[in-house]
Amino acid sequence: MCGIVGYIGKRNSLNILIDGLKRLEYRGYDSVGIAVINDENNTNFFKKAGKVKDVEEEFDREILQGSIGIGHTRWATHGEPNDNNAHPHSDDNRNIYLVHNGIIENYTTIKKKLIIEGFTFSTDTDTEVLANLIEYYFRIKNSIEIAVRLALNEVEGTYGLACICNKEPDKIIIARLGSPLMFGLGKDEIIVSSDAAAIINHTKNVIYLEDGEMAILRRDGFQIKTIQDEDIFREAQKIEFNLEEIEKGGFEHFMLKEICEQPDTVQNTYRGRINFETGLVKLGGLDSVAEKLINAKRIIITGCGTAWHAGLVGEYMLEQYCRIPTEVEYASEFRYRNPIINQEDIVILISQSGETADTRAAMKEAQKLGATTIGIVNVVGSTIAREVDAGTYIHAGPEIGVASTKAFTCQLMSLALITLMIGKNKNTIPDSELMKIASELKNLPEKIQSIIEKRNDYKFIADEFKDSRNFLYLGRGFNFPVALEGALKLKEISYIHAEGYPAAEMKHGPIALIDENMPVVFIAPKDSTYDKIISNIEEIKARRGKIITIANEDDDEIKNYSDYVLRVPKTVPIFAPILNSIPLQFLSYYIATARNCNVDQPRNLAKSVTVE
Ligand code: F6R
Repeated sequence: MCGIVGYIGKRNSLNILIDGLKRLEYRGYDSVGIAVINDENNTNFFKKAGKVKDVEEEFDREILQGSIGIGHTRWATHGEPNDNNAHPHSDDNRNIYLVHNGIIENYTTIKKKLIIEGFTFSTDTDTEVLANLIEYYFRIKNSIEIAVRLALNEVEGTYGLACICNKEPDKIIIARLGSPLMFGLGKDEIIVSSDAAAIINHTKNVIYLEDGEMAILRRDGFQIKTIQDEDIFREAQKIEFNLEEIEKGGFEHFMLKEICEQPDTVQNTYRGRINFETGLVKLGGLDSVAEKLINAKRIIITGCGTAWHAGLVGEYMLEQYCRIPTEVEYASEFRYRNPIINQEDIVILISQSGETADTRAAMKEAQKLGATTIGIVNVVGSTIAREVDAGTYIHAGPEIGVASTKAFTCQLMSLALITLMIGKNKNTIPDSELMKIASELKNLPEKIQSIIEKRNDYKFIADEFKDSRNFLYLGRGFNFPVALEGALKLKEISYIHAEGYPAAEMKHGPIALIDENMPVVFIAPKDSTYDKIISNIEEIKARRGKIITIANEDDDEIKNYSDYVLRVPKTVPIFAPILNSIPLQFLSYYIATARNCNVDQPRNLAKSVTVE
């Protein structure tokens, strides 16, 4: 969601904070702000609605001098995105300055209490209430550490926060509950962030705060405590990825870079985990639950958005190849519908970020009900990765573009590996088929690359359809969730309304929408559903809809039914969703760029939704 940075050390903090905010901007980008304590122990700040690059010139570098500071890039929850509501927020006495991710749910109650105490408020935010609450306790206890602790014991909701105090100008206090926060240990300096992306060019030694913990950071050291004031001792961990991996590397957008990385990222997901000759899969992170998985009577998969779509593909895989009844739930609904879960159930949580609030809440609910939880996560060390019973990393590398692309195909690959692992052990996949699948895996990166090499073909189609107001995406079987994902990609980055449907559902209603202005994307590989899909295409054609098909390279017949054909190599059914989703990623990317949309930071969206 929003991004937090902080610096305490010997260097001037401003450039470090601005650089950090730029790296975090993919998380939230409607406003930006910085507060810095100068050598005379006064705090100066600047905040404004807009993106860092637009606002950067307005930072007064003479005034914002100092070696302790905090910064924030915001994705609005309470109060519209304007200058006033941007962080940092201070108390009405300008002693405390606070940047905060998350939501203080009981802020109206606290605000009423503080108004009675004489505090005044000038913004619509919950964060300003927290800043005043900290100041309230500061006036009583005369200690910022105690004031933050007492305030946090009073609030309900979630937070990742960093706080500085004029009257104790030699420290930053940070705390976390439900919103990621970490700090990197440099030489005589500490860099705080909600995301490792803002830390790695300074140091790779990082300490992650856990929920319910706070830390007192000084130039020469730090102390971690729970908000109940118990001491915590924790060693630093090494961050594995480097700066190049989170930079654009010559591509115009992160999204394009990430789509084009997929030959490598998909390979990274299966690398070292499968024996190509025997089809035997070994997922180290699942060793402790392998037996349970193989004998599972029921699997529930949950996640949000793209991760939920991956879960739907997983359902097809697990039911078809392992014969395990599988259900897929929106994580945001899971805990509110009193789910029937028991101790024999396995709940798989899929999350790129590992921080999505709804998915985390689903994990907690499943754990409360006694299920075994398994994570399929990208961000190493993220909350879900740490808190599940067992898990497998997808190894997609940092995904910066807000629209998820490479994480999706790696999630599909992880689900395929889990399927093969179970299927082999349960003997539900014949050895001959398993070996065919395993040997096809070796060809997959090359096949993905062949789609990427044809990406310029999409520009022409994108120009043709960039002004369409609606799109339909249709597929059957494994490719129905791919249709949903294609529609989501188009909606989120080009703002064109798009729907995904199982192709045969058309005639039960949506076919009424078809006329010569409706582009319909069919996912039509040569598989067992091919003939049926052709009939569905005919139904649309008869109503003069415009047909774009995703079809196999050797399928000549398809030209007779399509206005445009996008080619993908043929593969085994379990991997077809991986190949078929890549043309849909390109299609949405090129339509969005033809419409001059900001593909990496679409309006109203944030990369990681850490509020419910
Ligand atoms: C869409 C997209 C979102 C995320 C969803 C879950 O392109 O990125 O729908 O998939 O917010 O995020 P994670 O996977 O981080 O839990």
